[in-house]
Amino acid sequence: MPDIVDDFANDRLNELQGHWMPFTANRDFKAEPRFIVRAEGMYYWSRAGHRVLDAASGLFCCAAGHGRREIAEAVSRQLLEMDYAPHFQFGHPSSFALAGRLAQLLPGDLDHLFFCNSGSEAIDTALKIAMAYHRARGEGGRQRFVSRERAYHGVNIGGTSLSGILRNREAFGAVMPGVVHLRHTWSATDRFVRGQPGNGAELAEDLQRFVDLYGGATIAACFVEPIAGSTGVLVPPKGYLERLRRICDAHGILLVFDEVICGFGRTGAPFAADSFAVMPDMITMAKALTNGAQPMGAVAVRDGIYRALTDGAPAHAIELFHGYTFSAHPAACAAALATLDIYAREDLVARAARLSGPFLDRVFSLADLPIVTDVRGYGMLAAFDLDPGGAPGARGYAALKRLFEAGLLLKWTGDTGILAPALIAEETHLDEMIERLRDGLAAI
Ligand SMILES: Cc1ncc(COP(=O)(O)O)c(C=O)c1O
Repeated sequence: MPDIVDDFANDRLNELQGHWMPFTANRDFKAEPRFIVRAEGMYYWSRAGHRVLDAASGLFCCAAGHGRREIAEAVSRQLLEMDYAPHFQFGHPSSFALAGRLAQLLPGDLDHLFFCNSGSEAIDTALKIAMAYHRARGEGGRQRFVSRERAYHGVNIGGTSLSGILRNREAFGAVMPGVVHLRHTWSATDRFVRGQPGNGAELAEDLQRFVDLYGGATIAACFVEPIAGSTGVLVPPKGYLERLRRICDAHGILLVFDEVICGFGRTGAPFAADSFAVMPDMITMAKALTNGAQPMGAVAVRDGIYRALTDGAPAHAIELFHGYTFSAHPAACAAALATLDIYAREDLVARAARLSGPFLDRVFSLADLPIVTDVRGYGMLAAFDLDPGGAPGARGYAALKRLFEAGLLLKWTGDTGILAPALIAEETHLDEMIERLRDGLAAI
């Protein structure tokens, strides 16, 4: 199906130079562009008119499927009624409604929501809240942060500092000081394990080693993705998150779950914190919060943290000197409220829990391909590693192109393919996904 590659005329290729595309091989893309121009349900359409099954919910965003009219109409209504309002010292009702709805969905007393525009901003916001919280309690000496190898926490300076992926850090100097990294949880001896690996909980003791080395009272917070997503779906070993929680509790360290990928049903529960029954002090979220229809991120904060910061400040004073021009943009709030309505009406979290078995059955069936060296998965999130051959990343990139030509879009990180279909998928879509994967992988 080679004509799926866009027919953008050669003499117009210079028109593509203006947009410096993110996380993209720009020269290669512009020589052979892959345009996506329409989306509906489980599918995209290329500009050449081919239908492409979306096995990644866009980029983990469109959990309720594409083209949801309810969301588009809610955004349109909101923009016609009020396009924008300043959010510093003023408010509009829908952000409060949204915060209330999210607090109901979130576990425990994660009752306070700080809104921003992306996952990266949510991470920066959580870093700053952690620092300000400790300072407000007279523990301003807590300036260190703990992250993990292979972590992805977005691309702002905060997230880059927390990043555990070499390529996302190496060009950007020393970034934030005082960040140390736990070992990642992937193990060569635990390949092809479905769900949580039985081994590896002891890796959480790395946090104890940092406490022993630096002093627990110097560490502000430990950030982890409950399931490390972008690096290729590393499911936490049984008992691992619990151990992190215990060590954090023992030393006054905040535990932050970055649920930018895991949240909103991806793990078969509203949040991964529910799936793994571990209560963090903050949860960062974005992506599926608006079903991808508007840029939005948020940090959910436990009551004690919110109160320490707000009650600790003098009356009439701004308590947290932080916020974005577009924090809680009315259109994003409208999109998020309409999205939450869809999740509730269509019971998509329960649907994800039911669909996980059939989904993982199919993904783990790839284990018989000689080119596949590992498969991992949990809920509606899975990944497989390809034998990189001679040049790491080359095979993954070839697979990305070949599979798009074959009508399948998934997320690639190096030689790892990541699957996260929308929670509205039918089993027929999952069959189609695996058929296309098998055909495409056979051809690279
Ligand atoms: C766990 C996690 N945190 C943060 C981010 C950054 O989100 P954004 O790209 O919206 O800034 C991502 C993006 O994939 C992510 O997966």
